[in-house]
Amino acid sequence: MRIGVPRETTSGEQRVALVPETVAKLIAAGFEVVVEHGAGEAASFPDAQYAEAGATLGDAATALGAAVVVKVRTPSTDESSRLTRGALVIGFLAPLTDAEGVARLQAAGVKAFALESIPRISRAQSMDALSSQSTVAGYKAVLVAADRLPKFFPMLITAAGTVAPAKVLVLGAGVAGLQAIATARRLGAVVSAFDVRPAVKEQVESLGAVFLDLGIRGEETAGGYAAELTPEQQAQQQAELQKRIAGMDVVITTALIPGRPAPKLITTEAVRSMRAGSVVVDLAAEAGGNCELTSPGEVVVRENVTLVGYTDLPSQMAWHASQLLSRNIATLLQHLAPKAELTLDWADEITAGACVAGKGS
Ligand code: NAI
Repeated sequence: MRIGVPRETTSGEQRVALVPETVAKLIAAGFEVVVEHGAGEAASFPDAQYAEAGATLGDAATALGAAVVVKVRTPSTDESSRLTRGALVIGFLAPLTDAEGVARLQAAGVKAFALESIPRISRAQSMDALSSQSTVAGYKAVLVAADRLPKFFPMLITAAGTVAPAKVLVLGAGVAGLQAIATARRLGAVVSAFDVRPAVKEQVESLGAVFLDLGIRGEETAGGYAAELTPEQQAQQQAELQKRIAGMDVVITTALIPGRPAPKLITTEAVRSMRAGSVVVDLAAEAGGNCELTSPGEVVVRENVTLVGYTDLPSQMAWHASQLLSRNIATLLQHLAPKAELTLDWADEITAGACVAGKGS
């Protein structure tokens, strides 16, 4: 079975769906791999490393024409038109927000598997690309914040006097939030955190952060995700947070509800209450942002506060983001095609759950 790895065409996307290490493993498992020239370049994986791993280098048409096409982002209209009918496509296909992209794959007659739709069950943990990329985003968010903050993170005792540690608040303590807490703690900040799922309190505390009690308890869905708060709870959350945000140097927000606009946690008024030079990194920017003043994709200064709305943090750390993503994709692929032969079991929760086009065919 031939796997094609096309070069990503989405502007600014630096990741690649398979890295040479994984290519070698898949070839050893019986697959053939064709990589488009330059596909790994932006992630610092030169063509020569793919060739050394046993891949063939080819053009876009060859990579897109393979029996299995692995991509980071949804195939564009042009890319979809070059897919082979009956082929398998794996990638971040945004099934909850990009109905057009999914319709294109349907029309192309392929079987498409969305990384976002893999059920979050223990058996599927090693395929969980949302988690691997959130880990990168949470880590990178803290580094961006530390870089933008005109202050130290750690407490320092110097001949010129003592420097107080930075105060960091993390909102949303899922995968990205927990990684942000751990990273900020390693840099020496005093960290507090909040999540609507009460179950995370213990995890937050085990990382050395304080769990804020805002008097709000949300529901957890069967998939482990948070359910959306009621408008009354949202208003209460904004008001409670506003009281605490004024004392923070950095706020990192990661609160998301799958398929819904990001909940607004930080109002304009709350930003106004922050000290000049403070930093907000809004990891929910792609879903509209947790802060009312976030400008998705940009860094802006509003009310003397730096608001970071990057939507591509995993891509900004493309080497490790691609390595982890590549392992997730290879595990899913080997689940769908053990022994390098397609064996789709539609009664299987992972196979059926991840398939967003061409199911059952
Ligand atoms: P996510 O990216 O959808 O959301 C991030 C965080 O925001 C979540 O912790 C959520 O509770 C929180 N949130 C939502 N609305 C909020 C609000 N108004 N205020 C404050 N926080 C809010 O979630 P993520 O990080 O992808 O995963 C969440 C959970 O899913 C994990 O902690 C875990 O329980 C479960 N999970 C299970 C896995 C498995 O078993 N294979 C793998 C990964 C996650």
